[in-house]
Amino acid sequence: MAMTRDRALDTTRLRQDFPILGREVNGHRLVYLDSAGSAQKPRQVLDAMDDFYRRSYANVHRGAYTLANEASEALESAREKVAHFIGAGSPNEVIFTKNATEAMNLVVNSWGRANLRDGDVVVLTVLEHHANIVPWQILADQIEIELRWVPLDHQGHLDLTALDELVDGAKVVSFSAMSNVLGTLTPVRRIADAARAAGAMVMVDACQFVPHNPTDVAELGADFIAFSAHKMCGPTGIGALWGREAMLDAMPPFLGGGSMISDVRLDGFTPAPLPHKFEAGTPPIAEAVGFGAAVDYLSALGMDSVRRHEVELTSYALRTLTERFGDQIAISGPSEPAERGGVFSLAYRDLHPHDISQVLDERAVCIRAGHHCAKPLMRYMGVGATARASVYVYNDESDIDALSEGLEAAGEFFAF
Ligand code: ALA
Repeated sequence: MAMTRDRALDTTRLRQDFPILGREVNGHRLVYLDSAGSAQKPRQVLDAMDDFYRRSYANVHRGAYTLANEASEALESAREKVAHFIGAGSPNEVIFTKNATEAMNLVVNSWGRANLRDGDVVVLTVLEHHANIVPWQILADQIEIELRWVPLDHQGHLDLTALDELVDGAKVVSFSAMSNVLGTLTPVRRIADAARAAGAMVMVDACQFVPHNPTDVAELGADFIAFSAHKMCGPTGIGALWGREAMLDAMPPFLGGGSMISDVRLDGFTPAPLPHKFEAGTPPIAEAVGFGAAVDYLSALGMDSVRRHEVELTSYALRTLTERFGDQIAISGPSEPAERGGVFSLAYRDLHPHDISQVLDERAVCIRAGHHCAKPLMRYMGVGATARASVYVYNDESDIDALSEGLEAAGEFFAF
């Protein structure tokens, strides 16, 4: 595929930043198409973490010595970077968590237990990841909340025909900004406005959104958003919850322990101010440094360019796969690239997703096969599993071509 000068990202140069992409697997160039599962890491992130461990590592907010101060500054500087990246009003609105799943569990357990009572309504959608379903179901075992579900249309958009009735009387509306299975981008602002007009709290699972789109929390209109570093070129082990400061301030702590207190007596404790109230125990310090470096890396690329690159690649993937395989392939989700991200759940002939994945792996093409932690959506779609390819900043048309050739090979291998 010839390079044109007006491409959003120079993937040829950018790939040099990712050491793992220089690797061969089974004698082939690595073609990594599972970034919705987890993204690869550039040397800028790896070096920042390595340098931190080699030069400045110590525990944070506890010591009065130079290393402890440097480590504390590194953690808080990472928080400032993450806050700026999403347009937060203050770093106090950014809570570091283990991942997006923990961020959503924090809200369900802290805000939910403080504010929900028997009979209250929580609105979710059928395309949610388990992380935005199971915490509510656990809560529903203890408080008799009613779960209502926003359905989908035939292309995998949220069907908002009955939105006003669904949110009427609801206390919570919690939904994904982008499906990790269908790629669907949901109309966050429209849903948030309807929910807030009905008096509901709004939480957005932005795990697949923040890494791929310019994000401004004020524009989204939610009360809380959750996302993970590892899907945006950062390390595993750290995610973030953004929340409106007044709401976070009013919420009780989630986990108790060191760091999250101002005082502890035998008869009780006084929580620390934000953000530390929600960060019990030693935080993921080097991971925060890596998170900050990932944010720097993506900011240097420019999130508008990241999104434009993804739309270009999505158009290419939808067009070439459909042209090559016709009605032998079904790609779930919206057909219009502007309405979706670069996540392609495929059904190819009658091949099992795991068989497809295995044949692709022989050619070093990495995709995810399975239910993608979205079993209710799988049931809704009437399938047990899909083969899912997903792209990020380092992918280009040659990777889609490798996927396409691998699918052809899988078709030939299983043609008996
Ligand atoms: N939620 C991640 C995925 O979709 C792990 O693969």
